[in-house]
Amino acid sequence: MLKFLIYICVCIFGVITLVWKIVIKCTPNMKGTVRYLAGIPGQSGYGSKSTADQVTQDCSSLPPNLTAIVTGATSGIGAETARVLAKRGVKIVMPARDLKKAAQVKENIQKECPKAEIIILDIDLSSFASIRKFCSEFLSLEIPLNILINNAGKFSHKLEFSEDKFEMTFATNYLGHFLLTELLLEKMIDTARETSVQGRIVNVSSVIHSWVKKDHFEFNRMLQPKHYNATRAYAQSKLANIMHANELAKQMKAINANIAINSVHPGIVKTGIIRDHKGIITDSMFFVASKLLKSTAQGASTTCYLALSSKTEGVTGRYFVDCNESRCSALANDDSEAHKLWKQTRALIHKRLRTKIRP
Ligand SMILES: NC(=O)c1ccc[n+]([C@@H]2O[C@H](COP(=O)([O-])OP(=O)(O)OC[C@H]3O[C@@H](n4cnc5c(N)ncnc54)[C@H](OP(=O)(O)O)[C@@H]3O)[C@@H](O)[C@H]2O)c1
Repeated sequence: MLKFLIYICVCIFGVITLVWKIVIKCTPNMKGTVRYLAGIPGQSGYGSKSTADQVTQDCSSLPPNLTAIVTGATSGIGAETARVLAKRGVKIVMPARDLKKAAQVKENIQKECPKAEIIILDIDLSSFASIRKFCSEFLSLEIPLNILINNAGKFSHKLEFSEDKFEMTFATNYLGHFLLTELLLEKMIDTARETSVQGRIVNVSSVIHSWVKKDHFEFNRMLQPKHYNATRAYAQSKLANIMHANELAKQMKAINANIAINSVHPGIVKTGIIRDHKGIITDSMFFVASKLLKSTAQGASTTCYLALSSKTEGVTGRYFVDCNESRCSALANDDSEAHKLWKQTRALIHKRLRTKIRP
C-alpha cells in the first residue's frame, strides 16, 4: 500500500513538472510565464485571460456587411471564433468536411444570435480537388470576402498520406490553407478595393513552431517523411503557417493591396486536437493542468482581435500571442526561407493542378 502511494505521488509530481515545463516552453521568458499565469494585460490592454467576447466589445462601429470564412469551425477554437464573429454581425462561411457537425454549430450560434447569417459548404482541406471545388462554389455566390481565418488543424499520430499523397498534417495545416488563400486572394483584394475596408487573414499557428530546427525544415522531406515524428510534423506545419503569413504580407504590401495577414498562437486549450491523444498520461496531465490551460473562449481571443479590432488595423506580417505582438522563432522570421517555401509550394501546386498562381 505504501509503495503504491509513493508511486502515485511520484507520478503526480512528474505530471506537474511536465506541465510546468510545457507552460514555460510556451512562454518566452519568466516574465512572460508570470504574465501568462496571472493574465496580466499587455500593450493591447488584453492578456491570456481575455476572451474573444471581451476583445471584440469595441467593435460596435464595424463596417456593415462583413463576410468571413472560418476553417475548422465545427469544433474548438474555430467554433468559438465563428460564434463571436457572428455575434458581432459578420456573415460566416463555414467550410466543413463534417456537415452534420457544422449544422449543429450553426444551430447553436443561431440560438444565441437569431439574425446570424451562416453558410455551410463542403471542404476537405487535405485535398486539393476539394479545396478547388469549395472555392468555385464560394466564388459563385458572388458575395464579398473581408476576412479569412485559416484555423483548421490536424495532428496525425501516425504517418498517413492525403489523397494527393502528401503527409497528412502538413497537407491539411499548411498546403490546404496555402491553396485556399491563393484561390480566394483576388476576391479579397477586390472586396478591399471596392469597400475601402482592409481585408484580414489570420493564420492560426502554434508556439510549437519554435521547436523546429532548420535542418528539419526541408520541403520534400515534409511532403514525404522517411522517419515520421508526429509532433515534429505538426510543428513544421505550424512554422510553415507563420512563414506563409510573413511572405504574403510582404507580397501584399509590394502590390499595394489592402490586405493584412498575421499569425497567432491561440494558447493551449483542451480541444479535439489534444483530446485525440487519449491515454492515462495525457488525461492526468490535463486534469492537473486544467488551471494552467485556456478556455476555448480565451483561445479564440487573439484570432478575433486580429480579425475585427480597430487596434490591429494596418498591422500585417506579425505574430501574436494573448492578443499582443510577440516574438516568433528566428527561423520563422527568416525572410529568405519564407520566400523559398512560398516558391516551392507554388511550384508544387502548379505542377499538380496546372492552376495558375500569382507570379
Ligand atoms: N488546442 C490547442 O491547444 C492549440 C494550441 C496551438 C494551436 N492550435 C491550433 O488551433 C487551431 C484550432 O484547433 P483546435 O484546438 O480548435 O482543434 P479542434 O477542436 O480539433 O478543431 C480542429 C478543426 O479543424 C477541422 N479539420 C481538421 N482536418 C480537416 C480537414 N481535412 N478538412 C477540413 N477541416 C478539418 C476539424 O474538423 P472536424 O470536425 O471535421 O474534425 C475541426 O473543425 C488549429 O490550427 C491548431 O493547430 C491549437
